[in-house]
Amino acid sequence: MKILVTGGAGFIGSNYILFMLQTFPDVQITNVDKLTYAGNLENLSAIECKDSYCSRYRFIKGDIVDRILIDNLLSQGFDAVINFAAESHVDRSIEEAGIFIRTNVLGTQILLEGIKKYKVGRFIQISTDEVYGSLGPEGKFTEESYLKPNSPYSASKAGADLICRAYFKTFSLPVIITRCSNNYGPYQFPEKVIPLFITNAIENIPLPLYGDGLNIRDWIYVEDHCRAIDLVLRKGKVGEIYNIGGNCERTNITITQMILEKLNKPKTLITFVKDRPGHDRRYAIAADKIEKEIGWKPAHSFETGIDKTITWYLNNKSWWEKIKSGEYRNYYHQMYGNRSSL
Ligand code: NAD
Ligand code: TYD
Repeated sequence: MKILVTGGAGFIGSNYILFMLQTFPDVQITNVDKLTYAGNLENLSAIECKDSYCSRYRFIKGDIVDRILIDNLLSQGFDAVINFAAESHVDRSIEEAGIFIRTNVLGTQILLEGIKKYKVGRFIQISTDEVYGSLGPEGKFTEESYLKPNSPYSASKAGADLICRAYFKTFSLPVIITRCSNNYGPYQFPEKVIPLFITNAIENIPLPLYGDGLNIRDWIYVEDHCRAIDLVLRKGKVGEIYNIGGNCERTNITITQMILEKLNKPKTLITFVKDRPGHDRRYAIAADKIEKEIGWKPAHSFETGIDKTITWYLNNKSWWEKIKSGEYRNYYHQMYGNRSSL
């Protein structure tokens, strides 16, 4: 199977490429990535320039909004395109929304035009549960839930989902949308809460907890998400949406305390800071459809997944130290300054 992966140098895309190439000898992957601040080819060092993979993997630096590049690439013939490429961080979308609309909405539409022109067999849009907005204390998001995005990030992802739906309805394109809950695991950029808090704790610097720390996310270990995407690619029904979730709701404060305990660090590192504007209170995914129709289930409990993740960040300090001492440090100070301690 010949697959074009977009955004494969980011967190989930790189985990997906490693999983696919290491699991299936018949899979060939082309990875097109703009290498924004979040793209890092070191994530793929296990396969980049390795003889055993060079006939099955190639990287192309490029922007999915570049129509000519995407047209040229898709003219080469692919069985499937998996669209991971996105601006993905809610706080950045609050600071500067424009790039989110450009990449997440326009980029998706440009890919769909290429899918139409070159009759690609499958297009998987990697979306998020955040398109559904925020839940109260009860209930879970199903595939039928209304789209009520609250941040510029989630609104741009919802926009992309609607463009996908329109291309399926109007042009019968073979589109499938997956909507996954919050991922964690190796190679996650340390601006997202779990890698930020693990690395801050290791460095003995404060863990900035937004608001009252009682917001809830439904966590999934990244490898479980990658396995779900593979099954959707092979067994999913065109035109359908599949929710993917780890059935693992936790408050932010619970996660923070767990990280500190596991690293043997004091609770005094927790610093309550000003809340994120429009902060969604609770996400929870009903993943019954993918479980029943496709036979997927998460393999990791939160306890197993977080242990693996903490161990990975402890063993791969040079990966994240480089990131945190570079461009990101300015960003972090700016963000942290904006949300000064209560
Ligand atoms: P990430 O920010 O780690 O990676 C995004 C990648 O896309 C980077 O490698 C970046 O260089 C690349 N990229 C950005 N703009 C591009 C462009 N215009 N052209 C080509 N490449 C571009 O994000 P992630 O956490 O790996 O998320 C991947 C996808 O999964 C996103 O679509 C995101 O919305 C979705 N998702 C993420 C989560 C999560 O918890 N991280 C949960 C559900 C869905
Ligand atoms: P994040 O990792 O940014 O993912 P998302 O906003 O897409 O769910 O945030 C996860 C939760 O952690 C969210 O409720 C916001 C909170 N959070 C903090 O309390 N402090 C932080 O520094 C960050 C980045 C997030």
